[in-house]
Amino acid sequence: MTETTRLAVVVLAAGQGTRMKSRLPKVLHPIGGRPLVGHVIDHARSLAPERVLVVVRHERDLVAQAAAATSADILVVDQDDIPGTGRAVQIALEAIPGFTGDVLVLSGDVPLLEASTLEGLVSAHRARGAAATVLSAIVDDATGYGRVIRDEFGGVQRIVEQKDATPEEASVTEINAGVYVFQADPLRVHLDLVDSANAQGERYLTDVIGLLRASQLAVAAASAPDASDALGVNDRVQLSEAARTLNARTVRRWQLAGASILDPHTTWIDVDAKLAADVTVLPNTYILGTTVIAEGAVVGPDTTLQDCEVGRDAVVRRTDATLAVIGAGATVGPFSYLRPGTVLGENGKIGTFVETKNSTIGEGSKVPHLSYIGDTTIGRHVNLGAGAITANYDDLAKHRTEIGDEVHSGSHNVFVAPVRIGDGAKTGAGAVIRKDVPAGALALSVAPQRNVEGWVEINRPGTGAADVAAKARSAQKADDGTQEED
Ligand code: UD1
Ligand code: CA
Repeated sequence: MTETTRLAVVVLAAGQGTRMKSRLPKVLHPIGGRPLVGHVIDHARSLAPERVLVVVRHERDLVAQAAAATSADILVVDQDDIPGTGRAVQIALEAIPGFTGDVLVLSGDVPLLEASTLEGLVSAHRARGAAATVLSAIVDDATGYGRVIRDEFGGVQRIVEQKDATPEEASVTEINAGVYVFQADPLRVHLDLVDSANAQGERYLTDVIGLLRASQLAVAAASAPDASDALGVNDRVQLSEAARTLNARTVRRWQLAGASILDPHTTWIDVDAKLAADVTVLPNTYILGTTVIAEGAVVGPDTTLQDCEVGRDAVVRRTDATLAVIGAGATVGPFSYLRPGTVLGENGKIGTFVETKNSTIGEGSKVPHLSYIGDTTIGRHVNLGAGAITANYDDLAKHRTEIGDEVHSGSHNVFVAPVRIGDGAKTGAGAVIRKDVPAGALALSVAPQRNVEGWVEINRPGTGAADVAAKARSAQKADDGTQEED
Protein backbone atom coordinates (compact mmCIF):
# COMPACT_ATOMS: atom_id res chain seq x y z
CA MET A 1 0.00 0.00 0.00
CA THR A 2 2.76 2.42 0.96
CA GLU A 3 4.41 2.31 -2.46
CA THR A 4 1.23 3.42 -4.13
CA THR A 5 0.71 6.45 -1.87
CA ARG A 6 0.85 9.59 -3.93
CA LEU A 7 3.43 12.26 -3.21
CA ALA A 8 3.41 16.00 -3.91
CA VAL A 9 6.24 18.31 -2.88
CA VAL A 10 5.72 21.92 -1.84
CA VAL A 11 8.81 24.15 -1.83
CA LEU A 12 8.44 27.35 0.21
CA ALA A 13 10.16 30.22 -1.55
CA ALA A 14 7.91 33.25 -1.06
CA GLY A 15 9.81 35.01 1.71
CA GLN A 16 12.06 38.01 1.24
CA GLY A 17 14.84 36.85 3.49
CA THR A 18 15.16 40.13 5.39
CA ARG A 19 18.15 38.93 7.39
CA MET A 20 20.20 38.55 4.20
CA LYS A 21 20.01 42.35 3.74
CA SER A 22 20.07 41.84 0.00
CA ARG A 23 18.41 43.05 -3.18
CA LEU A 24 18.41 39.44 -4.35
CA PRO A 25 15.68 37.25 -2.84
CA LYS A 26 17.27 34.89 -0.32
CA VAL A 27 16.39 31.66 -2.11
CA LEU A 28 18.20 32.89 -5.23
CA HIS A 29 21.55 33.34 -3.49
CA PRO A 30 23.84 30.75 -5.03
CA ILE A 31 25.95 28.05 -3.45
CA GLY A 32 27.84 25.53 -5.54
CA GLY A 33 26.84 27.45 -8.68
CA ARG A 34 23.08 27.11 -8.17
CA PRO A 35 20.49 29.14 -6.28
CA LEU A 36 19.49 27.74 -2.89
CA VAL A 37 16.02 26.94 -4.17
CA GLY A 38 17.54 25.10 -7.14
CA HIS A 39 19.20 22.64 -4.78
CA VAL A 40 15.95 22.14 -2.91
CA ILE A 41 13.94 21.52 -6.10
CA ASP A 42 16.61 19.11 -7.26
CA HIS A 43 16.33 17.06 -4.09
CA ALA A 44 12.55 17.14 -4.39
CA ARG A 45 12.69 15.82 -7.93
CA SER A 46 14.93 12.93 -6.99
CA LEU A 47 11.93 11.48 -5.10
CA ALA A 48 9.99 11.40 -8.38
CA PRO A 49 6.85 13.01 -6.91
CA GLU A 50 3.81 13.48 -9.09
CA ARG A 51 3.95 17.24 -8.55
CA VAL A 52 6.47 19.82 -7.42
CA LEU A 53 4.92 23.13 -6.38
CA VAL A 54 6.97 26.22 -5.64
CA VAL A 55 5.33 28.99 -3.64
CA VAL A 56 6.52 32.49 -4.60
CA ARG A 57 5.75 36.06 -3.68
CA HIS A 58 8.75 38.33 -3.03
CA GLU A 59 10.34 39.08 -6.47
CA ARG A 60 7.99 36.42 -7.78
CA ASP A 61 9.13 36.62 -11.44
CA LEU A 62 12.79 36.11 -10.59
CA VAL A 63 12.06 33.20 -8.28
CA ALA A 64 9.52 31.64 -10.67
CA GLN A 65 12.04 31.87 -13.48
CA ALA A 66 14.75 30.17 -11.41
CA ALA A 67 12.30 27.44 -10.42
CA ALA A 68 11.18 26.90 -14.01
CA ALA A 69 14.81 26.71 -15.11
CA THR A 70 15.29 23.57 -13.03
CA SER A 71 12.61 21.68 -14.94
CA ALA A 72 9.59 22.39 -17.07
CA ASP A 73 6.91 20.70 -14.98
CA ILE A 74 7.21 22.89 -11.87
CA LEU A 75 3.93 24.35 -10.72
CA VAL A 76 4.49 27.92 -9.53
CA VAL A 77 1.94 29.13 -6.98
CA ASP A 78 1.52 32.73 -5.84
CA GLN A 79 1.15 33.44 -2.15
CA ASP A 80 -1.15 36.35 -1.28
CA ASP A 81 -0.68 39.17 1.27
CA ILE A 82 -1.18 36.92 4.25
CA PRO A 83 2.27 36.08 5.61
CA GLY A 84 3.59 32.84 7.02
CA THR A 85 4.72 29.37 6.07
CA GLY A 86 1.28 28.01 6.96
CA ARG A 87 -0.38 30.34 4.50
CA ALA A 88 2.17 29.38 1.84
CA VAL A 89 1.29 25.70 2.15
CA GLN A 90 -2.42 26.45 2.26
CA ILE A 91 -2.18 28.33 -1.05
CA ALA A 92 -0.16 25.49 -2.57
CA LEU A 93 -2.81 22.94 -1.61
CA GLU A 94 -5.49 25.09 -3.23
CA ALA A 95 -3.61 24.55 -6.49
CA ILE A 96 -4.01 20.76 -6.23
CA PRO A 97 -7.58 20.50 -4.92
CA GLY A 98 -8.17 16.80 -5.46
CA PHE A 99 -4.85 15.64 -4.11
CA THR A 100 -5.13 13.16 -1.25
CA GLY A 101 -1.65 11.61 -0.84
CA ASP A 102 1.34 12.75 1.17
CA VAL A 103 2.66 16.30 0.98
CA LEU A 104 6.37 16.79 1.53
CA VAL A 105 7.05 20.39 2.52
CA LEU A 106 10.58 21.71 1.91
CA SER A 107 11.98 25.12 2.76
CA GLY A 108 13.66 26.93 -0.10
CA ASP A 109 16.39 28.04 2.30
CA VAL A 110 17.37 24.58 3.59
CA PRO A 111 19.64 23.44 0.75
CA LEU A 112 21.83 20.68 2.15
CA LEU A 113 19.39 17.85 2.80
CA GLU A 114 20.28 14.88 0.66
CA ALA A 115 17.69 12.88 -1.25
CA SER A 116 18.34 9.86 0.99
CA THR A 117 17.34 11.89 4.08
CA LEU A 118 14.09 12.95 2.43
CA GLU A 119 13.39 9.37 1.34
CA GLY A 120 14.02 8.24 4.92
CA LEU A 121 11.62 10.89 6.21
CA VAL A 122 8.84 9.84 3.82
CA SER A 123 9.23 6.16 4.59
CA ALA A 124 9.33 6.74 8.36
CA HIS A 125 6.14 8.77 7.99
CA ARG A 126 4.41 6.06 5.98
CA ALA A 127 5.63 3.24 8.21
CA ARG A 128 4.07 4.95 11.23
CA GLY A 129 0.96 6.05 9.43
CA ALA A 130 1.43 9.46 11.01
CA ALA A 131 -0.64 12.48 10.01
CA ALA A 132 2.58 14.51 10.13
CA THR A 133 6.26 13.73 10.49
CA VAL A 134 8.72 16.53 11.05
CA LEU A 135 12.42 16.28 10.27
CA SER A 136 14.30 17.28 13.39
CA ALA A 137 17.94 17.63 14.39
CA ILE A 138 19.84 18.07 17.64
CA VAL A 139 22.11 21.08 17.24
CA ASP A 140 24.67 22.87 19.41
CA ASP A 141 23.23 26.26 18.63
CA ALA A 142 19.48 26.27 18.12
CA THR A 143 19.24 30.05 17.74
CA GLY A 144 16.60 31.07 15.22
CA TYR A 145 15.02 27.64 14.77
CA GLY A 146 11.67 26.36 15.93
CA ARG A 147 12.04 23.95 18.87
CA VAL A 148 10.41 20.51 18.95
CA ILE A 149 8.50 20.25 22.22
CA ARG A 150 7.87 16.72 23.41
CA ASP A 151 5.43 15.40 26.02
CA GLU A 152 6.38 13.38 29.10
CA PHE A 153 6.32 10.17 27.01
CA GLY A 154 8.72 11.59 24.45
CA GLY A 155 6.04 12.11 21.80
CA VAL A 156 6.08 15.21 19.62
CA GLN A 157 3.60 17.68 21.02
CA ARG A 158 4.13 20.89 19.11
CA ILE A 159 6.73 23.22 17.67
CA VAL A 160 7.43 26.59 19.19
CA GLU A 161 9.22 29.36 17.31
CA GLN A 162 12.21 30.97 18.98
CA LYS A 163 10.43 34.31 19.20
CA ASP A 164 7.46 32.76 21.00
CA ALA A 165 9.44 30.41 23.24
CA THR A 166 9.67 30.60 27.02
CA PRO A 167 13.27 30.45 28.33
CA GLU A 168 12.67 26.79 29.17
CA GLU A 169 11.42 25.99 25.66
CA ALA A 170 14.28 27.96 24.16
CA SER A 171 16.75 25.72 25.99
CA VAL A 172 15.56 22.72 23.91
CA THR A 173 18.23 21.69 21.41
CA GLU A 174 16.00 19.61 19.15
CA ILE A 175 15.06 21.85 16.23
CA ASN A 176 12.56 21.73 13.39
CA ALA A 177 14.50 21.49 10.12
CA GLY A 178 11.63 23.17 8.28
CA VAL A 179 10.93 19.96 6.38
CA TYR A 180 7.88 17.76 6.96
CA VAL A 181 5.55 15.19 5.46
CA PHE A 182 1.82 15.51 5.99
CA GLN A 183 -1.20 13.53 4.92
CA ALA A 184 -2.95 15.99 2.61
CA ASP A 185 -6.45 15.78 4.07
CA PRO A 186 -5.74 16.46 7.75
CA LEU A 187 -3.22 19.09 6.64
CA ARG A 188 -5.91 20.99 4.72
CA VAL A 189 -8.32 20.81 7.62
CA HIS A 190 -5.82 21.96 10.23
CA LEU A 191 -4.26 24.73 8.12
CA ASP A 192 -7.68 26.36 8.20
CA LEU A 193 -7.40 26.51 11.99
CA VAL A 194 -4.02 28.27 12.06
CA ASP A 195 -4.16 31.89 13.22
CA SER A 196 -1.52 34.59 13.47
CA ALA A 197 -1.61 35.18 17.22
CA ASN A 198 2.16 35.04 17.68
CA ALA A 199 5.21 37.24 17.98
CA GLN A 200 5.58 37.62 14.20
CA GLY A 201 1.89 37.97 13.35
CA GLU A 202 2.25 35.17 10.78
CA ARG A 203 0.37 31.97 10.07
CA TYR A 204 2.93 29.39 11.07
CA LEU A 205 2.98 26.00 9.39
CA THR A 206 4.57 24.75 12.60
CA ASP A 207 1.28 25.35 14.46
CA VAL A 208 -0.30 22.53 12.45
CA ILE A 209 1.76 20.00 14.42
CA GLY A 210 0.20 21.01 17.75
CA LEU A 211 -3.26 21.26 16.15
CA LEU A 212 -3.02 17.73 14.71
CA ARG A 213 -1.96 16.45 18.14
CA ALA A 214 -4.91 18.23 19.73
CA SER A 215 -7.16 16.35 17.26
CA GLN A 216 -5.64 13.07 18.55
CA LEU A 217 -3.81 12.43 15.27
CA ALA A 218 -0.40 10.80 15.23
CA VAL A 219 2.50 13.18 14.89
CA ALA A 220 6.11 12.02 14.71
CA ALA A 221 9.64 13.29 14.28
CA ALA A 222 12.45 11.70 12.28
CA SER A 223 15.94 12.93 12.94
CA ALA A 224 18.34 14.03 10.22
CA PRO A 225 21.32 11.65 9.99
CA ASP A 226 23.68 14.61 10.05
CA ALA A 227 22.52 17.70 11.95
CA SER A 228 24.60 20.02 9.75
CA ASP A 229 22.43 18.99 6.77
CA ALA A 230 19.47 20.69 8.42
CA LEU A 231 21.14 24.11 8.23
CA GLY A 232 18.68 26.83 7.30
CA VAL A 233 20.13 29.85 5.54
CA ASN A 234 18.77 33.07 7.01
CA ASP A 235 21.81 35.34 6.85
CA ARG A 236 25.13 35.57 5.04
CA VAL A 237 27.01 33.79 7.79
CA GLN A 238 24.82 30.74 7.29
CA LEU A 239 25.07 31.17 3.52
CA SER A 240 28.84 30.80 3.67
CA GLU A 241 28.52 27.83 6.04
CA ALA A 242 26.15 26.12 3.62
CA ALA A 243 28.48 26.86 0.70
CA ARG A 244 31.44 25.41 2.57
CA THR A 245 29.58 22.25 3.60
CA LEU A 246 28.32 21.69 0.07
CA ASN A 247 31.79 22.31 -1.35
CA ALA A 248 33.39 19.87 1.09
CA ARG A 249 30.95 17.22 -0.12
CA THR A 250 31.64 17.99 -3.78
CA VAL A 251 35.42 17.93 -3.30
CA ARG A 252 35.18 14.62 -1.46
CA ARG A 253 32.99 13.14 -4.18
CA TRP A 254 35.63 13.92 -6.85
CA GLN A 255 38.48 12.78 -4.64
CA LEU A 256 36.75 9.41 -4.22
CA ALA A 257 36.24 9.35 -8.00
CA GLY A 258 40.02 9.61 -8.51
CA ALA A 259 40.88 13.30 -8.65
CA SER A 260 43.79 14.61 -6.56
CA ILE A 261 42.65 17.75 -4.84
CA LEU A 262 45.52 19.04 -2.78
CA ASP A 263 43.76 21.62 -0.69
CA PRO A 264 40.03 21.04 -0.23
CA HIS A 265 39.73 24.24 1.79
CA THR A 266 40.82 26.53 -1.04
CA THR A 267 39.34 24.55 -3.92
CA TRP A 268 35.78 25.43 -4.90
CA ILE A 269 33.92 23.15 -7.26
CA ASP A 270 30.40 23.88 -8.46
CA VAL A 271 27.95 21.01 -8.35
CA ASP A 272 27.63 20.79 -12.14
CA ALA A 273 31.38 20.63 -12.88
CA LYS A 274 33.00 17.32 -13.81
CA LEU A 275 36.49 16.00 -13.10
CA ALA A 276 37.90 12.83 -14.63
CA ALA A 277 40.19 10.41 -12.82
CA ASP A 278 43.81 11.51 -12.36
CA VAL A 279 43.00 15.16 -12.62
CA THR A 280 45.16 17.19 -10.23
CA VAL A 281 43.80 20.37 -8.72
CA LEU A 282 46.29 22.66 -6.97
CA PRO A 283 45.31 25.17 -4.24
CA ASN A 284 43.20 28.31 -4.70
CA THR A 285 41.31 26.99 -7.67
CA TYR A 286 37.68 27.60 -8.67
CA ILE A 287 36.08 25.08 -11.01
CA LEU A 288 32.78 26.68 -11.83
CA GLY A 289 29.62 26.21 -13.82
CA THR A 290 29.67 23.33 -16.25
CA THR A 291 33.46 23.07 -16.48
CA VAL A 292 34.67 19.63 -17.53
CA ILE A 293 38.27 18.53 -16.92
CA ALA A 294 39.63 15.47 -18.70
CA GLU A 295 41.92 12.76 -17.39
CA GLY A 296 45.42 13.69 -16.34
CA ALA A 297 44.97 17.44 -16.58
CA VAL A 298 46.63 19.64 -13.96
CA VAL A 299 44.76 22.77 -12.96
CA GLY A 300 45.94 25.50 -10.60
CA PRO A 301 47.23 26.94 -8.43
CA ASP A 302 45.29 30.22 -8.40
CA THR A 303 43.03 29.40 -11.31
CA THR A 304 39.39 30.12 -12.12
CA LEU A 305 37.60 28.14 -14.82
CA GLN A 306 34.02 29.11 -15.59
CA ASP A 307 32.17 26.84 -18.04
CA CYS A 308 35.41 25.60 -19.63
CA GLU A 309 36.55 22.37 -21.21
CA VAL A 310 40.06 21.20 -20.36
CA GLY A 311 41.51 18.36 -22.46
CA ARG A 312 43.50 15.31 -21.40
CA ASP A 313 46.87 16.04 -19.81
CA ALA A 314 46.53 19.77 -20.32
CA VAL A 315 48.25 22.04 -17.78
CA VAL A 316 46.50 25.23 -16.72
CA ARG A 317 48.39 27.38 -14.20
CA ARG A 318 47.43 30.73 -12.62
CA THR A 319 44.75 31.36 -15.21
CA ASP A 320 41.35 32.99 -15.42
CA ALA A 321 39.18 31.45 -18.14
CA THR A 322 35.53 31.64 -19.12
CA LEU A 323 33.80 29.59 -21.81
CA ALA A 324 37.12 28.46 -23.21
CA VAL A 325 38.12 25.12 -24.68
CA ILE A 326 41.66 23.97 -23.92
CA GLY A 327 42.89 21.08 -26.05
CA ALA A 328 44.56 17.87 -24.92
CA GLY A 329 48.18 18.35 -23.92
CA ALA A 330 47.92 22.12 -24.18
CA THR A 331 49.52 24.47 -21.66
CA VAL A 332 48.01 27.68 -20.38
CA GLY A 333 49.52 30.24 -18.04
CA PRO A 334 50.94 31.36 -15.81
CA PHE A 335 48.94 34.62 -15.82
CA SER A 336 46.69 34.02 -18.82
CA TYR A 337 43.23 35.45 -19.34
CA LEU A 338 41.01 33.39 -21.64
CA ARG A 339 37.75 35.09 -22.48
CA PRO A 340 34.68 33.50 -24.07
CA GLY A 341 35.18 31.78 -27.40
CA THR A 342 38.82 30.91 -26.92
CA VAL A 343 39.60 27.51 -28.44
CA LEU A 344 43.14 26.26 -27.96
CA GLY A 345 44.10 23.23 -30.04
CA GLU A 346 45.91 20.09 -28.96
CA ASN A 347 49.39 20.73 -27.61
CA GLY A 348 48.92 24.45 -28.11
CA LYS A 349 50.14 27.12 -25.75
CA ILE A 350 48.76 30.33 -24.33
CA GLY A 351 51.50 31.73 -22.16
CA THR A 352 52.41 34.46 -19.75
CA PHE A 353 50.38 37.68 -19.73
CA VAL A 354 48.30 36.70 -22.73
CA GLU A 355 44.66 37.67 -23.20
CA THR A 356 42.53 35.86 -25.76
CA LYS A 357 38.93 36.25 -26.89
CA ASN A 358 36.75 34.66 -29.55
CA SER A 359 39.78 33.09 -31.17
CA THR A 360 40.84 29.68 -32.36
CA ILE A 361 44.47 28.76 -31.92
CA GLY A 362 45.31 25.64 -33.91
CA GLU A 363 47.02 22.41 -32.97
CA GLY A 364 50.57 22.90 -31.72
CA SER A 365 50.38 26.67 -32.09
CA LYS A 366 51.83 29.01 -29.51
CA VAL A 367 51.10 32.47 -28.22
CA PRO A 368 53.71 32.40 -25.51
CA HIS A 369 54.18 35.93 -24.14
CA LEU A 370 52.56 39.34 -23.64
CA SER A 371 49.85 39.25 -26.28
CA TYR A 372 46.26 40.17 -27.02
CA ILE A 373 44.57 37.85 -29.48
CA GLY A 374 40.95 38.72 -30.29
CA ASP A 375 38.63 37.63 -33.11
CA THR A 376 41.43 35.64 -34.64
CA THR A 377 41.87 32.29 -36.33
CA ILE A 378 45.34 30.82 -36.06
CA GLY A 379 46.29 27.68 -38.01
CA ARG A 380 48.55 24.81 -36.95
CA HIS A 381 52.13 25.02 -35.70
CA VAL A 382 52.19 28.79 -35.60
CA ASN A 383 54.47 30.72 -33.28
CA LEU A 384 53.67 34.32 -32.51
CA GLY A 385 56.60 36.29 -31.11
CA ALA A 386 56.39 38.12 -27.79
CA GLY A 387 54.04 41.06 -27.79
CA ALA A 388 51.80 40.02 -30.71
CA ILE A 389 48.69 42.17 -30.71
CA THR A 390 45.63 41.81 -32.91
CA ALA A 391 44.08 45.22 -33.39
CA ASN A 392 40.57 43.90 -33.87
CA TYR A 393 38.57 47.05 -33.18
CA ASP A 394 38.60 50.24 -35.26
CA ASP A 395 36.18 51.93 -32.85
CA LEU A 396 33.26 51.12 -35.14
CA ALA A 397 33.37 47.38 -35.57
CA LYS A 398 35.34 44.26 -34.69
CA HIS A 399 37.35 42.61 -37.49
CA ARG A 400 39.03 39.24 -37.84
CA THR A 401 42.65 38.34 -38.18
CA GLU A 402 43.38 35.11 -40.05
CA ILE A 403 46.74 33.48 -39.67
CA GLY A 404 47.55 30.35 -41.69
CA ASP A 405 49.58 27.27 -40.74
CA GLU A 406 53.27 27.35 -39.82
CA VAL A 407 53.39 31.15 -39.57
CA HIS A 408 56.18 32.69 -37.44
CA SER A 409 55.83 36.29 -36.43
CA GLY A 410 58.58 38.51 -35.12
CA SER A 411 58.40 40.11 -31.69
CA HIS A 412 56.06 42.99 -31.08
CA ASN A 413 53.84 42.77 -34.12
CA VAL A 414 50.50 44.46 -34.55
CA PHE A 415 48.01 42.76 -36.86
CA VAL A 416 45.54 45.42 -37.96
CA ALA A 417 42.34 43.54 -38.75
CA PRO A 418 40.83 42.64 -41.11
CA VAL A 419 44.03 41.02 -42.30
CA ARG A 420 45.23 37.57 -43.47
CA ILE A 421 48.63 36.01 -43.12
CA GLY A 422 49.22 33.19 -45.60
CA ASP A 423 50.59 29.73 -44.74
CA GLY A 424 54.27 29.62 -43.87
CA ALA A 425 54.67 33.42 -43.93
CA LYS A 426 57.03 35.32 -41.62
CA THR A 427 56.96 38.84 -40.25
CA GLY A 428 59.81 41.01 -38.99
CA ALA A 429 60.27 42.36 -35.46
CA GLY A 430 58.09 45.35 -34.71
CA ALA A 431 56.03 44.97 -37.87
CA VAL A 432 52.63 46.60 -38.14
CA ILE A 433 50.76 44.32 -40.53
CA ARG A 434 48.04 46.31 -42.30
CA LYS A 435 47.97 44.43 -45.60
CA ASP A 436 47.52 40.73 -46.28
CA VAL A 437 50.75 38.73 -46.37
CA PRO A 438 50.91 36.08 -49.12
CA ALA A 439 51.86 32.49 -48.26
CA GLY A 440 55.60 32.11 -47.74
CA ALA A 441 56.34 35.87 -47.82
CA LEU A 442 58.44 37.83 -45.32
CA ALA A 443 56.61 40.98 -44.27
CA LEU A 444 58.64 43.93 -43.04
CA SER A 445 56.99 47.22 -42.19
CA VAL A 446 59.62 48.94 -40.11
CA ALA A 447 61.79 51.55 -41.96
CA PRO A 448 65.59 51.24 -41.69
CA GLN A 449 66.86 52.93 -38.51
CA ARG A 450 68.06 56.56 -38.83
CA ASN A 451 69.86 58.42 -35.98
CA VAL A 452 69.29 62.20 -35.89
CA GLU A 453 72.36 63.46 -34.08
CA GLY A 454 71.87 66.14 -31.40
CA TRP A 455 68.05 65.99 -31.60
CA VAL A 456 67.54 66.04 -27.83
CA GLU A 457 69.77 69.05 -27.13
CA ILE A 458 68.07 71.04 -29.90
CA ASN A 459 64.47 70.08 -29.18
CA ARG A 460 64.56 69.56 -25.41
CA PRO A 461 66.99 72.19 -24.15
CA GLY A 462 67.29 72.49 -20.38
CA THR A 463 66.01 69.04 -19.62
CA GLY A 464 67.98 66.44 -17.67
CA ALA A 465 68.16 64.38 -20.83
CA ALA A 466 69.66 67.29 -22.77
CA ASP A 467 72.20 67.94 -19.98
CA VAL A 468 73.49 64.39 -19.77
CA ALA A 469 73.46 64.05 -23.55
CA ALA A 470 75.56 67.22 -23.88
CA LYS A 471 78.03 65.93 -21.28
CA ALA A 472 78.29 62.55 -22.93
CA ARG A 473 78.80 64.12 -26.32
CA SER A 474 81.54 66.50 -25.15
CA ALA A 475 83.30 63.68 -23.28
CA GLN A 476 83.09 61.65 -26.44
CA LYS A 477 84.58 64.58 -28.45
CA ALA A 478 87.43 65.07 -25.95
CA ASP A 479 88.06 61.36 -26.04
CA ASP A 480 88.13 61.39 -29.82
CA GLY A 481 90.51 64.45 -29.63
CA THR A 482 93.04 62.75 -27.27
CA GLN A 483 92.87 59.62 -29.35
CA GLU A 484 93.78 61.73 -32.42
CA GLU A 485 96.77 63.26 -30.54
CA ASP A 486 98.12 59.82 -29.59
C1 UD1 B 1 11.14 28.19 9.78
C2 UD1 B 1 10.26 27.43 10.78
C3 UD1 B 1 11.15 27.01 11.96
C4 UD1 B 1 12.27 26.14 11.46
C5 UD1 B 1 13.07 26.85 10.38
C6 UD1 B 1 14.02 25.86 9.75
C7 UD1 B 1 8.02 28.39 10.62
C8 UD1 B 1 7.03 29.30 11.25
N1 UD1 B 1 9.19 28.30 11.23
O1 UD1 B 1 11.62 29.35 10.45
O2 UD1 B 1 10.36 26.28 12.91
O3 UD1 B 1 13.13 25.78 12.54
O4 UD1 B 1 12.19 27.34 9.33
O5 UD1 B 1 14.92 26.47 8.85
O6 UD1 B 1 7.73 27.77 9.61
N2 UD1 B 1 8.20 31.42 3.31
C9 UD1 B 1 7.14 31.48 2.45
N3 UD1 B 1 6.09 32.30 2.75
C10 UD1 B 1 6.05 33.03 3.90
C11 UD1 B 1 7.14 32.93 4.79
C12 UD1 B 1 8.20 32.12 4.47
O7 UD1 B 1 7.14 30.84 1.39
O8 UD1 B 1 5.07 33.74 4.10
C13 UD1 B 1 9.35 30.57 2.96
C14 UD1 B 1 10.66 31.32 2.95
O9 UD1 B 1 10.93 31.83 1.66
C15 UD1 B 1 11.66 30.26 3.37
C16 UD1 B 1 10.83 29.30 4.22
O10 UD1 B 1 9.48 29.58 3.93
O11 UD1 B 1 12.17 29.57 2.25
C17 UD1 B 1 11.12 29.49 5.69
O12 UD1 B 1 10.83 30.82 6.06
P1 UD1 B 1 11.72 31.61 7.11
O13 UD1 B 1 11.14 32.95 7.27
O14 UD1 B 1 13.14 31.51 6.76
O15 UD1 B 1 11.41 30.77 8.43
P2 UD1 B 1 12.34 30.56 9.71
O16 UD1 B 1 12.22 31.74 10.58
O17 UD1 B 1 13.69 30.15 9.30
CA1 CA C 1 14.73 29.98 7.40
